[in-house]
Amino acid sequence: MKIAVYPGSFDPLTNGHLDIIERAAKIFDELIVLVSVNSSKSPMFSLEQRCAMIEQVVADFDNVRVAVLDGLLVDYVSQLGNAVIVKGLRALSDFEAEFQMALMNRDINNAVETMFLMTCVDYAFLSSSIVKEVDRYHGDISQYFGYTKRYAFDYAR
Ligand code: PNS
Repeated sequence: MKIAVYPGSFDPLTNGHLDIIERAAKIFDELIVLVSVNSSKSPMFSLEQRCAMIEQVVADFDNVRVAVLDGLLVDYVSQLGNAVIVKGLRALSDFEAEFQMALMNRDINNAVETMFLMTCVDYAFLSSSIVKEVDRYHGDISQYFGYTKRYAFDYAR
């Protein structure tokens, strides 16, 4: 049984995240979308809202579930047994932070591997932060949340 953990803030989940979920769900037997409490950021959406949005989106996948992370990622992953971390990689700008996190995670526990899926080119520019920025000025963000007929933002509010 190959398990992958896809961690993130998902504040909120975008089509870019969903693309990674779809692709990872095909590779692994089970995929856990792990929503971080992330004390260093002040999220726009509560933990409950973020989880509810993702649960709605992944309901169609029978090997994907949502869980909450309140602690060290490698501790969560290692207690699953044979599991790996999966992350999405967009532009070069992601690389440095992801590289640092992967190396730190390996330093804490070298039994836990991190694997990267390269973004689909359609989503290379997409991030939760930039979508929130557009929404803040009332721009149309519906195309970045194609997974739901309602805007994810309306859903959560
Ligand atoms: O979507 P994000 O904000 O880039 O996700 C960051 C996340 C949640 C993957 C990262 O902050 C994390 O792993 N947090 C859990 C705490 C932890 O293990 N920190 C050490 C990793 S360097």
